[in-house]
Amino acid sequence: MSTMLQWPASRPARPGDPLVDSFGRVHSDLRVSLTDRCSLRCTYCMPEQGNLWLERSTLLDAAEIEAIARVAALDGVDTFRLTGGEPLLRRDLAEIVRRLAALTVGGRPVEVSMTTNGIGLAGRIDELAAAGLSRVNISLDTVRADRFAELTKRDRLADVLDGIRAAAASGLRPLKLNTVAMRGVNDDELHDLVDLAVEHGAELRFIEQMPLDAGHTWDRSTMLTRDEILETLSARWRLTEVDGRGDSPAERFHLDGGPHTVGVIAAVTAPFCGACNRLRLTADGQVRNCLFARDELDLRRVLRSELSGTERDAALDSVLRASVLGKQAGHGIDDPEFLQPGRGMNAIGG
Ligand code: 5AD
Ligand code: SF4
Repeated sequence: MSTMLQWPASRPARPGDPLVDSFGRVHSDLRVSLTDRCSLRCTYCMPEQGNLWLERSTLLDAAEIEAIARVAALDGVDTFRLTGGEPLLRRDLAEIVRRLAALTVGGRPVEVSMTTNGIGLAGRIDELAAAGLSRVNISLDTVRADRFAELTKRDRLADVLDGIRAAAASGLRPLKLNTVAMRGVNDDELHDLVDLAVEHGAELRFIEQMPLDAGHTWDRSTMLTRDEILETLSARWRLTEVDGRGDSPAERFHLDGGPHTVGVIAAVTAPFCGACNRLRLTADGQVRNCLFARDELDLRRVLRSELSGTERDAALDSVLRASVLGKQAGHGIDDPEFLQPGRGMNAIGG
């Protein structure tokens, strides 16, 4: 169930209070983008050429990320997801994991996970697990090498599969694979993708494509929907809903009675904004209250100001709180006035 809080009007919120928005949604999950760069060029995410990369000096370093995470954890954020671009491109990734994994909320260690395209994961997963990483989500849209090269503009399917094998062998669980389902692109291999996940003890999760592509080519009428995905899967497996969805954006189904499962994230046709508990931190230190937010607030300026210690933390806290308070009820993809966010997915973080 979604946690709803009625805010006591008797006093203003202060550091340590939960991050509650004006609709009563309590924020406990922070997505931390570590870089806008990536080893792939997925067509729905960023252009092949002509990217305007964030200037290096604007990227937060490990200590700065920790400073924000520490304030967020004090306010009850207990789940941190590292994203990109591609987080494995950060040389200090293990150090970031170590710093975040040391945080606690209510005496319990926070969860630190990562969304990655898997390239280079094989060589680093042991170090990351030792640093305290709990689990990984690996993105994979196709199991065909030629199609992979077309879709990502890089011929690297074999490297991704190495990453998936290494993640499976590492024992970090649950292991999830994410697939953006696209009509006329990969809709003929949904079964093969599930098979690959099952083989590796992973759960495949199909995601409806959202309007986040740099080329602005997204079109609702050509998007593959949750219903169509389930219909295709039902041709091969008997799907029964897994109980206890909670706040999860994914609807989960047992395949032929279990134990294996598949998930569908109907971000467009069945939005889960009402239960959203997420905030996002961009690699250059801006806090966003939604994937589709039109504006963001600046934490980097606070970090690099003259403020120190408690004053700085109080200022970080009030910026986080202001972002949460400005959060809209939903993403409004269906509104005629809907506008895509100014940043691409690679610069926002999944
Ligand atoms: N719609 C849905 N999912 C997307 N992702 C990237 N762009 C989009 C989009 N437009 C996914 C990636 C990855 C995760 C970070 O977000 O495939 O799995
Ligand atoms: Fe890279 Fe992920 Fe964007 Fe693909 S979707 S280009 S893997 S950041």
